[in-house]
Amino acid sequence: MRAAAMQGGGADKIAQQHKRGRLTARERLDLLLDKGSFRELDMFVTHREREFGLDQRKTLGDSVVTGWGTIDGRLVYVYSQDFTVLGGSLSRVHADKICKVLDMARKTGAPMIGLNDSGGARIQEGVVSLGGFADIFLRNTLASGVIPQLSAIMGPCAGGAVYSPALTDFIFMVQNSSYMFVTGPDVVKAVTQEDVTFEELGGAMTHAQISGVCHRVAETEADCLYMLRMLLSYLPQNNMEDPPAKPSSDDPLRMEAALDDIIPANASKPYEIRDVIKLVMDDGDFFEMHELFAPNIVVGFARLGGHSVGIVANQPAHLAGVLNINASEKAARFVRFCDCFNLPLITFVDVPGFLPGTAQEHAGIIRHGAKLLYAYCEATVPKLTVITRKAYGGAYDVMSSKHIRGDVNFAWPSAEIAVMGPEGAVNVIFRQELADAADPEARKRELVDEYRSAFANPYVAASWGYLDDVIEPRETRPRLINALEALGNKRDANPAKKHGNIPL
Ligand code: HXC
Repeated sequence: MRAAAMQGGGADKIAQQHKRGRLTARERLDLLLDKGSFRELDMFVTHREREFGLDQRKTLGDSVVTGWGTIDGRLVYVYSQDFTVLGGSLSRVHADKICKVLDMARKTGAPMIGLNDSGGARIQEGVVSLGGFADIFLRNTLASGVIPQLSAIMGPCAGGAVYSPALTDFIFMVQNSSYMFVTGPDVVKAVTQEDVTFEELGGAMTHAQISGVCHRVAETEADCLYMLRMLLSYLPQNNMEDPPAKPSSDDPLRMEAALDDIIPANASKPYEIRDVIKLVMDDGDFFEMHELFAPNIVVGFARLGGHSVGIVANQPAHLAGVLNINASEKAARFVRFCDCFNLPLITFVDVPGFLPGTAQEHAGIIRHGAKLLYAYCEATVPKLTVITRKAYGGAYDVMSSKHIRGDVNFAWPSAEIAVMGPEGAVNVIFRQELADAADPEARKRELVDEYRSAFANPYVAASWGYLDDVIEPRETRPRLINALEALGNKRDANPAKKHGNIPL
């Protein structure tokens, strides 16, 4: 029986899966987990459906492989859907198997990883299958914020098969081989008369760049599984533990002279914020998430002095680092993830403000921008902020400012902190004077210069204690590591409540 179960849908279906460039459910687990560590559960489970001839099509274990194993020696629970058995479709017993491991993962405080490859609800089972999905959704939600939940999409995922991953913390997809959609191209055509390919509708690049559903795109399945292992290395097992430390030979006192001239002399010139991040973090490592979505903000994981941290950084090299709807949502969710799992937040600020215009206002920049504000306000993990250049307007408040419980806030001498940029400010406060001036252009230049020297610097904020220090760029790494260690025992809490009401 065991040998039969290992064959899943049989040799032909396995060959088809390989022909499409995809691995089988068990081959994927072999690559994901430490060698020999997988312990399978429920190998002898079979479905109970008798209609539509399904009583003649029983497969041991049905269409999913579940169990536990280790990654770098640390316990994880897993499920891996088996497309060779009725397209990995979700039967009642398939759902029961996933629920069992999800319950075990939550109770034992170990991460849950789902490898998804499924045609959705098993059509022949009807409402019983829909109920199975709902049972999984409930467990994903209860486990949210308790254990990290990671999803890899490794084939077509249709219908209900997309919503369990959507409830998890991160979704990785494989380029040209994995798809996610609520309804496929045929249904889309029937309902909206739209002609669309699988790739355009729900391929990895579509979800990475346009919808924001996908957090990382892998070139191959092996790559995708390796990236899951990498991600876990930054995370604790559950919300009660600290992230694992990883000592590095990179000197914590390392001064980085290259940072001193990374900010262009002209304040409107872009630079690459990832260069700043890599020069500061241990060994230049930065595990970026959501890279292709809202590139005007950068988020990801790194280590500082061996400690895992979450990084949020405005990206001046894209749309001048402005905060728009997508950037606010992207960063808000990341900040909340880090706060759930005790990852200190390091925020690099260079932001001209929120993006103006009807497109953004009508799409709700007010309520979406509020998500980021809310996320930073409620976060109680250590919060360290470095203002490298601009911090204007509401965006100054939002980006982990002192006022919303930033623990240690630094600025570089190049920082400009004010309600708005010099041009805009002069236009508002000197409107009458400029209208009356003999030479309005010359007067405006004078006023802009005066405003710039009075406000476009970090010292007004520092004089109020809104910045803890103005530091030389080169000393950013040692100062951040030192502050992080000073905050090592930080304990802070929010008022007791059932839960807050983040503006969704
Ligand atoms: C039962 C299914 C199935 C399903 C696929 N199969 N999906 N069996 N229920 N949902 C079976 C096929 O009959 C076939 O069986 C085998 O799996 C492989 O499927 P193919 O179609 O041959 O593969 P492929 O061409 O690669 O297409 C894959 C696919 C397509 C894109 C996933 O099968 C598809 O569109 N399936 C239906 C997807 C769908 O609409 N699901 C909606 C479910 S509704 P054989 O006999 O050949 O082995 C839903 C609602 C839940 O999920 C809501 C909760 C919120």
